[in-house]
Amino acid sequence: MTTKNTGTEKPWGGRFSEATAASVEAFTASVHFDARLARHDITGSRAHARMLARQGLITETERDQILAGLTAIEDEITAGRFVFRPELEDVHMNIEHALVAKIGPAGEKLHTARSRNDQVALDLKLYLREEAGRFNDLLTDLQEALVALARRSMGIIMPGYTHMQRAQPVLASHHFLAYYEMFGRDRERFGDCARRLNVLPLGAAALAGTGLPIDRQSMAAELGFNAVSANSMDTVGDRDFAVEFASAALLAHLHLSRLAEELVLWASEEFRFITLADRFCTGSSIMPQKKNPDIPELIRGKTGRVLGNLVALATLLKGLPLTYNRDLQEDKEPIFDTVDTVSASLAMAAELLRHTECNRAAMAQATLGGFMTATDLADYLVRKNVPFRQAHAIVGRIVATCIEQGKELTDLSLAELRAAAPQIEADVFVTLSIEGSVASRLSEGGTAPARVETALRQAEERLGMVS
Ligand code: ARG
Repeated sequence: MTTKNTGTEKPWGGRFSEATAASVEAFTASVHFDARLARHDITGSRAHARMLARQGLITETERDQILAGLTAIEDEITAGRFVFRPELEDVHMNIEHALVAKIGPAGEKLHTARSRNDQVALDLKLYLREEAGRFNDLLTDLQEALVALARRSMGIIMPGYTHMQRAQPVLASHHFLAYYEMFGRDRERFGDCARRLNVLPLGAAALAGTGLPIDRQSMAAELGFNAVSANSMDTVGDRDFAVEFASAALLAHLHLSRLAEELVLWASEEFRFITLADRFCTGSSIMPQKKNPDIPELIRGKTGRVLGNLVALATLLKGLPLTYNRDLQEDKEPIFDTVDTVSASLAMAAELLRHTECNRAAMAQATLGGFMTATDLADYLVRKNVPFRQAHAIVGRIVATCIEQGKELTDLSLAELRAAAPQIEADVFVTLSIEGSVASRLSEGGTAPARVETALRQAEERLGMVS
């Protein structure tokens, strides 16, 4: 029997009596972006072919022909010699078509008991599982850069801010280690994502499973999946794992963006808290004096597209009926863009931090204004048995007097302080000093040098930075 397929060579051409319109081919093609999945598509096909042979659905000779053909195709792709053809729609049909062209009838058996619906879910899972591992590495590298910067900056005191107003003095290292924690949670999220997506979709076939005697467990074992999916209809329509990946990536990029914002501010003439290496800055085409922090600005700016990609994915799934719908082809570009954008930002941020230094003098200068030890004075009164609310009010009045007289807390004499609160004694001046304030914050997670040193050492040990 001959097909009515009019020479379009499409694997699904049998029931069609005319060639696909060129405009439709252009509109439906995805190979210009999903070619990125080629390596994973071949990995999945190898496991599928081996399983088909084990189950007697193809012969061992056919299996070997398929495996050899897939390797030849893989080599051509790696060497950049493989020609992806848009009229063959996607990466799956391009590879299958090339296989048939290479090895003939055995190639036509590869798609036995398989659909592109379970195939594409497998490819995307293999891809994201690998990327989750790479993201963990990138985040670890960024944590190392932060911890090294915290180590170099140990002992430097700066204002800690709330509402972008000077609040209480802190160690600069404590500030950097805050980001170490944030990126640590990001690593956990990618780990969770990888664990949950590690369930084999292959064998769900189009949507209902297959009547052919396949063995999914053995494919799961070969491909390193922890389990096989439980419901074939869920399997071909599920993109939860892509949304999870994109949201983990968004959180990581939000953290990067907050860090970037601070680096931009801190590199300004108004702050001068940090110096960014020249080779990590750019100049102005008109203003000869400029040295601009374009890297953190771009990182901050790219956050929008990472959020946009997550919104695009969520919107894609909203209202999508079971099971597979072609809409799902739209999952790939947002995911690929998120992978590219976030991985580039993570790598760039780590490199930038390795070439960033704190300006001790400017940070110290900034701690002198702003009455940042006012809370310490209130706590001092608490230790002298003044209820905290009263202590707060007393210190508030002292600060108001200072503002009136253009003084800092440390400019007040003991007599002036005692006039406000008779409980105050000569030992108050340790409390009012910036160093004394920082040293006193010994609560767990606090900024006292002893606490920060322990946190820093733990981080260094976890990252294997100490021998
Ligand atoms: N290119 C498609 C995608 O990315 C592959 C699955 C196509 N399945 C189908 N029944 N047309 O989702």
